[in-house]
Amino acid sequence: MANMDNWLNLINISYKTLLNNGRNYAAFDQDQLHQCMEMFYTNGAERILDPMSGYGTIRPCANQYGISTYCVEINTPCYLWQHLTMPQNAQKYIALIDSVIPKTNQLPEESVLWEASRRDWIAPIGKSLLEYIYLLLLTESRKLNETLYDYDAEKFAIALLLPFSSRLAAMQNGDVQHVKRGSTAVYRNYRDDFTSYLTLLKIKLQHSTNTATTNILNEIRLGDSKVFQFDGERFEFMLTSPPYPNHIDYAKMFGPENELLNELNEKNLLHIPKNLDDPIGSNVVSGKSAGEIWSPHANDFIEKIFSYRKTKKAQDDNRVYYGPYFRNYFYNLQVAYSNIAKHLASTFTGVIIVRNNTARSYIVPVAESIIDIWKNLGFEAKIVDQREMFHVGSKNPQSKGFKAKHMEYVIKIWREEL
Ligand SMILES: C[S@@+](CC[C@H](N)C(=O)[O-])C[C@H]1O[C@@H](n2cnc3c(N)ncnc32)[C@H](O)[C@@H]1O
Repeated sequence: MANMDNWLNLINISYKTLLNNGRNYAAFDQDQLHQCMEMFYTNGAERILDPMSGYGTIRPCANQYGISTYCVEINTPCYLWQHLTMPQNAQKYIALIDSVIPKTNQLPEESVLWEASRRDWIAPIGKSLLEYIYLLLLTESRKLNETLYDYDAEKFAIALLLPFSSRLAAMQNGDVQHVKRGSTAVYRNYRDDFTSYLTLLKIKLQHSTNTATTNILNEIRLGDSKVFQFDGERFEFMLTSPPYPNHIDYAKMFGPENELLNELNEKNLLHIPKNLDDPIGSNVVSGKSAGEIWSPHANDFIEKIFSYRKTKKAQDDNRVYYGPYFRNYFYNLQVAYSNIAKHLASTFTGVIIVRNNTARSYIVPVAESIIDIWKNLGFEAKIVDQREMFHVGSKNPQSKGFKAKHMEYVIKIWREEL
């Protein structure tokens, strides 16, 4: 008998991990999250901000302590995952699943069993099948809740489709978080697989409705923390972690999903953008410019990268890519924290969990630079805990010793009543 869960091996590894564990690469460690939450709870926190919130891992933990959350995320697939897993939305998603499952037999039969693509994430037949599924979800979503604004109906439809969409993509899973384009898509049994996906998700959502508490408010926003206005609000507590420099491009982890978002937007079937511009840590360096960087630690490090002379190739790579990359990284972090700081209350406590990894023969001083930035912004900041880790998201699991070493720091940021 065929393994009913085979489809899980055919989807983007990020979603496989999320569906299996509810968390993914770069998400907060649960023990650490609880330690921080205890501290916030003891300090009387009612709501916590995460301005770079990824998959929204703070939410379930904060809610256990009766604390509300306000999460901002720039990456559309991550944001939609938060929407899909939000306890307040669970009943609506379950109703949508219940109305769609009996209609999956209306989806077109596969006209071919497989299709290959060299260039695209999703080959033409795959795209048209995904469009059918999306339109079915959209129709049901509109019917279920006529008061939903069209934009909301679209959000429910696309958030439900996205984790499954790579099942029909011509992509291959690679290492930790890499999916590769240019492969074969297998369409055989796609409708059964879609039903299996919906069934699995329904079980997970039913579990999350048990944890929905009425007096807790969880808000999520798709936005760029470098410029976001946070609904004009001010926050007393924050728990966050910045993107890690130089290994994972969050936008590229979702190649097939972004291609689908793009396609549906271009056809005017969807009005949620593929990805907002310029996530911090993006691997795209050309055409970007950075302003003055305040942090002496960041400046020293960037200087070392530009003057690294070991081999001619390394020198060239550093000049063209790594130097500009790190300059953009630190500058954008500074811009984002400066903007976030404007939305913090006069009495404020925050925690930033950060990992310093290595580049060339140097440690990337993310923790130290973050302390420099917040001090420059007029806050107190210090490392309150640290631990040594290995292979935290290393691109190359073969790397050993210094290159595999990552230090994790817990940084406390605060200011007393001004
Ligand atoms: C280390 S991850 C956060 C993971 C999160 N703590 C969790 O547990 O799921 C950093 C996140 O920052 C997001 N990000 C990058 N630039 C951003 C920006 N300008 N505004 C908001 N979010 C951003 C990335 O897309 C990524 O999801």
